[in-house]
Amino acid sequence: MKGLKTVYVCSECEYSSPKWMGKCPSCGAWNSFVEDVIAEEKKGTAAQKHALTARTGDQRATPYRELEMPSYIRTATGLLELDRVLGGGLVLGSVVLLSGEPGIGKSTLLMQISDILGSHRRVLYISGEESSGQLKLRAERLGVKGENLSILTETNIEKILAEIDRVKPDVAIVDSIQTIYSENIASTAGAVTQVRESALALINKAKADNISVILVGHVNKEGSIAGPKILEHMVDAVLYFEGERQQTYRIIRAIKNRYGSTNEIGVFEMTDEGLCEVQNPSEMLLAGRPQNTSGNCAVCTMEGTRPLIAEIQALVSATAFPAPRRTSNGIDYNRLCLILAVLEKRLGLRFSANDVYINVIGGMRLDEPASDLAVAMALISSLTDRAVPDDLIAIGELGLSGECRAVSGLEYRVKEAARLGFRRAIVPCRNLEKRGIKAEIELLPIKSIFDILKLLSPTEKKDI
Ligand SMILES: Nc1ncnc2c1ncn2[C@@H]1O[C@H](COP(=O)(O)OP(=O)(O)O)[C@@H](O)[C@H]1O
Ligand SMILES: [Mg+2]
Repeated sequence: MKGLKTVYVCSECEYSSPKWMGKCPSCGAWNSFVEDVIAEEKKGTAAQKHALTARTGDQRATPYRELEMPSYIRTATGLLELDRVLGGGLVLGSVVLLSGEPGIGKSTLLMQISDILGSHRRVLYISGEESSGQLKLRAERLGVKGENLSILTETNIEKILAEIDRVKPDVAIVDSIQTIYSENIASTAGAVTQVRESALALINKAKADNISVILVGHVNKEGSIAGPKILEHMVDAVLYFEGERQQTYRIIRAIKNRYGSTNEIGVFEMTDEGLCEVQNPSEMLLAGRPQNTSGNCAVCTMEGTRPLIAEIQALVSATAFPAPRRTSNGIDYNRLCLILAVLEKRLGLRFSANDVYINVIGGMRLDEPASDLAVAMALISSLTDRAVPDDLIAIGELGLSGECRAVSGLEYRVKEAARLGFRRAIVPCRNLEKRGIKAEIELLPIKSIFDILKLLSPTEKKDI
């Protein structure tokens, strides 16, 4: 078409080039170039133009002492688990990006909160993916009453903005940003420029009209948000909705939050009536735990202010491959390799002749080093076929010399373990050095990895 040209844009940093490239010369990302069609006369990206126009105002720097404390107005969504992740609710004039794999329950969650918010706020749900019939069907299944809730099935950003002006919602939900396009940009919907421009228009609208906007973002095969990486920088909060599709529970976590902590998680269970909050996730994660079997160990991880008990399973079996396999689900792969190396070197255990599989039950992801000790226990238990006693929980970080390092929030962790019926907890010695902690269960302080061998049951009793 006349006046248009094809360029290749890096989806990470938006570096553009007339030719496709395997590696971005600007940010170094591999395979990040996507095709985009832009108008010939358009020089520089809109973001750059925006930055330039923003700079040309007669803004003066303000002395710090004259700055006023902002007062954020938060609206609770009514779902405690979501509000916890948001830092207390949706902030007026802010933009939240909710992303997750297809079918994980993003539209379900948003329809549910639209209904709850509708009782005291005006909500506009904009869907570019589903017909109004499909939306109605889901809403009926979820028992939505639909007070103050308007539905718009539209993908054109200009029409969406006009409708926002007409309806004047307090909360606008856009499902999904990748389906929205602008007539003024030549490329197809979902292209980098389209996603960025549509998001920018909605962000500006949110700030100008002081409304809360929630954008749904798709994830690509690698699990990052499809479209420009810059999208994550533009919005105020980025939430990830995750979980195993085969399992019923879902975890929502904040990757970025300008108005709250990013440590908190929210746990939901997917049912026919929609997502139900799970206020006691530990109980759910421990349900159906095999008794007296080798390769299992419970751990207590802190997710923000909340302790969460998870179960780690390990399987160590003789390898049939020249290079033994290491498969990790829920634990960082490099962390697993490090723990294996420590066990091999310090305890002389022969993991190098075995395949190792690690799994955290329930699709939980344990990022905290405090779960090291439980991983080590599960690995040793599987290798030696000696079960970790069922009433025992292991908390502690492992150092490279095999020493057990202190962890934060030990008191909360032990309390949660006691609540769930554990009677003994392996804890780092260092945590108890300065001051003891109050605990309702027996604490087994250990200095290093050498101390844990004697805590395993002598032989395995198989009754799964
Ligand atoms: N009776 C039901 N009919 C349709 N979907 C259901 C039903 N019960 C539970 N679901 C769940 O709803 C999910 C669809 O969620 P949805 O909100 O459309 O996901 P997303 O918007 O993230 O793609 C399905 O994956 C399914 O697990
Ligand atoms: Mg959807």
